[in-house]
Amino acid sequence: MDRLVIDGGVPLSGEVAVSGAKNATLPIFTAALLTVEPLIVANVPHLRDVTTMLNLLAQMGVAVSMDEKLGVELSAARIASPIAPYELVKTMRASVLVLGALTARCGEARVSLPGGCAIGLRPVDQHIKGLQAMGAEVSIEHGYISVRAKRLKGARICLDLVTVTGTENIMMAAVLAEGTTVIENAAREPEVVDLASCLNAMGARVRGAGTDVITIEGVGRLHGARHRVMPDRIETGTFLAAAAATGGNVTLRGARPDILDAVLEKLREAGAHITTGADWIALKTNGALGAVNVRTAPYPAFPTDMQAQFMALNSVARGTAVVTETIFENRFMHVQELKRLGADIEVEGNTAVVKGVSHLDGATVMATDLRASASLVLAGLVARGTTTVDRVYHLDRGYERIEEKLSKLGARIRRVR
Ligand code: EPU
Repeated sequence: MDRLVIDGGVPLSGEVAVSGAKNATLPIFTAALLTVEPLIVANVPHLRDVTTMLNLLAQMGVAVSMDEKLGVELSAARIASPIAPYELVKTMRASVLVLGALTARCGEARVSLPGGCAIGLRPVDQHIKGLQAMGAEVSIEHGYISVRAKRLKGARICLDLVTVTGTENIMMAAVLAEGTTVIENAAREPEVVDLASCLNAMGARVRGAGTDVITIEGVGRLHGARHRVMPDRIETGTFLAAAAATGGNVTLRGARPDILDAVLEKLREAGAHITTGADWIALKTNGALGAVNVRTAPYPAFPTDMQAQFMALNSVARGTAVVTETIFENRFMHVQELKRLGADIEVEGNTAVVKGVSHLDGATVMATDLRASASLVLAGLVARGTTTVDRVYHLDRGYERIEEKLSKLGARIRRVR
């Protein structure tokens, strides 16, 4: 099993390019199920979750190839079996994203019910509620969600809570439905907007993505299109946090500062100096950082996917920070590991109190989920001596060539197999 070995203490410095967003790529790939014509997707990050989604789609009969400009071409001329099996769903919950598109295209779908995962229970009741409102018959049999619908009908759906993939699933189901669907209390995440713009390029009529009311006018068919995936805001935020924690000076190219307000504001509050252009973000630090309180909430508030990285940052900042996680009930698995490096963190329910320490000391730590592993890498970059991050496959799900990018910024990091 791969491990990352990090010799800490080097301030990151230089320039690095941001990759395409994982959480935009995954739903956009499933949109290919909605048309018989090819969908070509550019700026696709090379990640384990992306490969898992391609395997899932290929197994359903989608032809996958590369075009001459390194775009991934997905052609769902024929769908052999509208099934997402347990083996794939268990390794990646986002597999549930095929539910809406399969129902719309095939009139049926069978998707393994995702169980709990490292960060919480994560039910899919809102995805199901949306499909039922559109007239689908849904049953849970033998651990699978089975959906049947002749042709879905537009409906008014008010979500009980803000769900990103739930909003995306309902949106994809609605684009081919008869009549108009309105999703209220919809997720406003930029990845939802990226999916909507891909669907519209395919001939869909989606309005309001990026607000909490999305209106989808169903159409008879969609056609092929070419779409470029947006930059990954969480990768961007992770590199900025790493630069800040190490007292560095970095520029991220191909970034989107306009969708990172909450994170940039917190980094500024911590004392980092940040400048931005249309497609770049530069960060430098003068002296030690101050602790910053963080409370996660749906976009545009502070993202849960950046909580663990800020925990690492606060571990070595001046003062005490309160970190509150409101999205997932069990997303503090990194705390035990950060403590092994010498962090002073107390957890009570969904709140962690982080008292900054003068330094962390390298040790062997274990990654438990994607963002938790990012926080451990970040801590390793700051710690004295050598840190070994075990179970790096978690990191490979969502960070493209992370050790290569960090090495380019001067970090002493290597992968050991
Ligand atoms: N929820 C329900 N019922 C539902 C759906 C969600 O109770 O039917 C709850 C969840 O259990 C959670 C909250 O609602 O407590 C929000 O979950 P959401 O559905 O928004 O999460 P998701 O769509 O499963 C996506 C990202 C996550 C990211 C969250 C929150 C993708 C593929 N995944 O997950 O990304 O943390 O939104 O922003 O888009 C990651 O990249 O590391 C990651 C976990």
